[in-house]
Amino acid sequence: MLDVETLARKWEKAHPRVILQEASGLGLKWTLAMSFSREDTVILHWLSQIRQPVDAFWLDTNLLFPETYEFKDEVAARYPVNLRHIQPSLSLADQAERYGESLWKQDPHQCCYVRKVEPLFAALAGYDGWITGIRREQSPTRAHAKVIEWDAQHELYKLNPLALWSTEDVQSFAEANGVPVNPLHGQGYPSFGCYPCTRPVKPGESIRAGRWEGWDKSECGIHQ
Ligand code: ADX
Ligand code: SF4
Repeated sequence: MLDVETLARKWEKAHPRVILQEASGLGLKWTLAMSFSREDTVILHWLSQIRQPVDAFWLDTNLLFPETYEFKDEVAARYPVNLRHIQPSLSLADQAERYGESLWKQDPHQCCYVRKVEPLFAALAGYDGWITGIRREQSPTRAHAKVIEWDAQHELYKLNPLALWSTEDVQSFAEANGVPVNPLHGQGYPSFGCYPCTRPVKPGESIRAGRWEGWDKSECGIHQ
C-alpha cells in the first residue's frame, strides 16, 4: 500500500509532469479518465512522453456534444493512446423504456448514475489507480482534492496531477505546447459534459455554473 498522505504532501509542490513521471514509476497500473477537456489532453500530452501507448478510457454517455465526438478522433489520431470506449449497460432507448423519455429532465441523478457512475466501475476494474483532470479551483466540492488520494468508492488510487493548477496555467501550457483543445472551450464552455445538461457560462460566472442548471446538483457522481 502507498502512503498517500506522505506522497500527497510531497507532490503538493511538484510540477504535474513530475507527479505523472513518479507515479508511473511506482509499478502500478494506471488509467487516464478522458472527458476531452483541456485538462485531459494536457495530461495525455505528458503521459505520452513517459510511456506509450497511454492507457485511457472515455465514458460515452451517448449524449456528448458533437464537438466532443469529433475531437476524440483528433486526439486519438494525434497521440499514442489505447482509448477504451466505455458505454452504459442501457442504450438510450432502453433507458427511456425503463425510466421514461429524457430521464435527465426528470431525474438527472438517476441518469448520471446509469450513464456515468455505474460504467465507471467497469472502466476501473483491474487497475490500481485512475488519473483525472480535476482541479481545486473548479468548485467548492473539489477545493480539497489531493494530488493523490485513496478512492474508497472504487478501491483504488486517484491521481489528480492538476489539482493545484489554475485555468490560466492549463490554458497557457496547452497554447505554448501545441496541445489540441476541444473547441467547446472557445465557445463559452469552461466545463462541459452531456449537451442536455450543459450551457455556456456568462462573463463572471463560475467555471461549473453551466452544469445542471436549475437542479441541486454540482457533480455527476464519479467524483462524489
Ligand atoms: S464531471 O464529473 O462533472 O463530468 P468534469 O467535467 O469536471 O467532471 O471532469 C473532471 C474529470 O473527470 C475529467 O478531467 C476527467 O478526468 C473525468 N471525466 C469527466 N467526465 C468523463 C467522461 N465522460 N469520461 C471519462 N472521464 C471523465
Ligand atoms: Fe444524463 Fe445529464 Fe448526467 Fe449526461 S449529464 S448522464 S444527460 S443527467
